[in-house]
Amino acid sequence: MTSRERFLAACAAQPLERPPVWIMRQAGRYLPEYRALKARHSFLEMVKTPELAMEVTLQPLRRFALDAAILFSDILVIPEALGQPYHFKDQGGIAMDFRLENHTQIDELGTADTIPEKLHYVAAALTLLKQELGDSKALLGFGGSPWTLACYMIEGGGSDTFERAKALFAQEPALFAALMEKLTAALIAYFRMQIQAGADAIQIFDSWGGIVEPEDYEAASLSWIRQIIAALPKGFPIILYAKGLGGRLADLAFSGASVLGLDWTTDLASAHDQLTGLDRIENRLPRARALQGNLDPILLNASADLAQRETTKLLESMRHRPGHIFNLGHGITPEAKIECVETLVRTVTEWKN
Ligand code: CP3
Repeated sequence: MTSRERFLAACAAQPLERPPVWIMRQAGRYLPEYRALKARHSFLEMVKTPELAMEVTLQPLRRFALDAAILFSDILVIPEALGQPYHFKDQGGIAMDFRLENHTQIDELGTADTIPEKLHYVAAALTLLKQELGDSKALLGFGGSPWTLACYMIEGGGSDTFERAKALFAQEPALFAALMEKLTAALIAYFRMQIQAGADAIQIFDSWGGIVEPEDYEAASLSWIRQIIAALPKGFPIILYAKGLGGRLADLAFSGASVLGLDWTTDLASAHDQLTGLDRIENRLPRARALQGNLDPILLNASADLAQRETTKLLESMRHRPGHIFNLGHGITPEAKIECVETLVRTVTEWKN
């Protein structure tokens, strides 16, 4: 069985001898070869040059027996394509060149029909990767959720509180809706382009969905995600990464996604039992049957021993629960140790259900 077949079977919750494995941010600063390439090319240059994006994408696959390649890019290419660029700050981290504050700025954002041309470099990188990988590995495309993108666009960058984004959602419903409609349409065009270019699955990062109050989650984030998924080919594998939302499984399950990615604060086996239990309440709507995750990324910063122990613990907890893609609960950190990643991947690939 190829890695790609194993990955797609896990998305469909079919029983497997072992789960497929990949790592969020698997190409990145913990890899010396990434740092070496970045010494010669800026992040944005690597993202925008298909040959470089392909090279960075493939770096972790040369070291580790991963089952999936995720395109090297960023969720912020969408705001940039719509007319709100981003840059790296001297002190580290990213910032948008300006923040979205009023109706005129939102009106002036580009429209969805310009996305395939503006983000042609993403399609080109995926096409190169598909040629290189063939049907051996799963090839993943991705994008941010409308809410997660809006958080950065309204705030003008990252934030501890995202207070401007929350205020706009709570106090300016028309403005908020105008922005979300633009983002939703742009993301539909973007994901269709990625699928056409050869992506086997798409991961939607709702990294900040968990920061709103539970009763706001539907209006702030989930309803837009559902619209996006409904506009994509029926049955195409979508992974919805929902950080901080382990308590909202029943809602997430009916988003249209086939896989839910959870962070490490949720017990994955209990979440799997909950998903299975949904059969009893509602069996007409298609629902997520598979889970992705969810080791704490920090566990890869200590020792190979610890990585081995924690990986085995998670694998054992999911034994006989079909529909598991092994991953971390969030992106790997720049301080992660190569030997810990090696141990994690080896432990998963040698394990037997
Ligand atoms: O997973 C992968 O290997 C694919 C590449 C990928 C990147 N960003 C590369 C990247 C993916 C899937 C992302 C998603 C992304 N980008 C998210 C959602 C995932 C999450 O972490 O919740 C978000 C919120 C962003 C926005 C973003 N990009 C921020 C806030 C930052 C700066 C903070 C940081 O981590 O340095 C980035 C930069 C970024 N994107 C880096 C990488 C490898 C670091 C670039 C560098 O300094 O070399």
